[in-house]
Amino acid sequence: MSHKALAKTTGTESVSATERATLTASVKALVRSKRYVYFKPIERSNGVEAVVDGRTLIMASSNDYLGLTHDRRVLAAAARAMRRWGSGPGGSRFLCGNITLHHELEERLARFTGKAGAVVHPTGFLTNAGAIACLTRPGDVFLCDRECHASIMAGCRLGGARMVSYKGEREGAARAALERLRAKPETGRIFLITEGLFSMSGRVTDLAALARLREVDPNLFLYVDDAHGLGVMGGGRTTAHEFDAVADVDMVMGTFSKALASVGGFVASDDLDLLTYIQHDSRTHIFSAGLPAASAAAALASLEIIEKEPRRVERLWRNARLAQSRLQRLGLTVKESSSPITSILIGDEMAAFDFSRELFDRGVFALPAVYPAVPKGQAILRVVFTSRHTRKHIDTVLNAIAETARLFRLIED
Ligand SMILES: Cc1ncc(COP(=O)(O)O)c(C=O)c1O
Repeated sequence: MSHKALAKTTGTESVSATERATLTASVKALVRSKRYVYFKPIERSNGVEAVVDGRTLIMASSNDYLGLTHDRRVLAAAARAMRRWGSGPGGSRFLCGNITLHHELEERLARFTGKAGAVVHPTGFLTNAGAIACLTRPGDVFLCDRECHASIMAGCRLGGARMVSYKGEREGAARAALERLRAKPETGRIFLITEGLFSMSGRVTDLAALARLREVDPNLFLYVDDAHGLGVMGGGRTTAHEFDAVADVDMVMGTFSKALASVGGFVASDDLDLLTYIQHDSRTHIFSAGLPAASAAAALASLEIIEKEPRRVERLWRNARLAQSRLQRLGLTVKESSSPITSILIGDEMAAFDFSRELFDRGVFALPAVYPAVPKGQAILRVVFTSRHTRKHIDTVLNAIAETARLFRLIED
């Protein structure tokens, strides 16, 4: 895929008036046909159940993997921090919005990820956008897995270096792309960017295998967005821990909006000079308000709990394996089954919207992912059972999925 096409699919390329009108018209058409399933206003939530339009639904779409968003210790830490530092930071960290808690969190994240230091940003999106943009010089290349998140693409575009994508799901694709690039004398440094655990398909990246690409290019820089792997993979650490590749990863990025039950993001690395540079040059760090104290405290409290209570991670995986094996036995196609993200292949986009709406009617909150989040014609229903979902929740959701799949003739009676 070309740089431009890649940017377009991730929403980072400017769009024409016609493209804007097409998107608006398709949203309106979905609303008219009662297929529109996004932006549902949640009136109340306890993490595993959510009230929408006065009805209580089982939440099967959340990235609150370890079920910590409503943990009383996390809530108490956030409330204490808000009382001590206020509801907002009052400015960028660079100026007056920097609090001791940010530094405590950075030290803790560095230890947790096995790196020497970390720099916290206000969100995960802003972390990728700001930090990736700091990495390159003219002539350098971003070599990205084609499934990479829009925030990675935003960082690449802000960084201005050439972007090349490879099909990470095909063995050898990264190596072939790297060899092609390295064969050109004008290519500068190559930054290989991937996700540890892909958010939509649930695909897990073998980081040890990617690190072996240094046989082709000893200066290869490996950047891993581990938004979904943090606290989940590697026994509740990171995807690099899973593959015994912590030292091989030059920079790991994570968010607090998934397993850490908060909002915010960070990059961690052993290169402290590079981190100092990011701290002072990342546009989204310098020119954006600091992470609110309550969010920082919630992330810190979550890290503490994750380290003390490994059973949460075990429960998350047990729930995922149970659900995936039952869905497969039903005859449904579960795209990847080595992750806590369960992606059920529906295929047609309209069928995916209808499937999700039918589940809403049956008391289940589970959303589809359609193009450009997934390739055209490969719409999925993305289901996540957190470590707080009970057997009863799982049974109810799986029964609703089975009945809907029969209704839609995805499986036989
Ligand atoms: C892979 C990946 N990277 C980055 C982000 C952005 O993180 P945040 O929600 O903290 O902005 C997300 C969130 O959707 C993600 O899935």
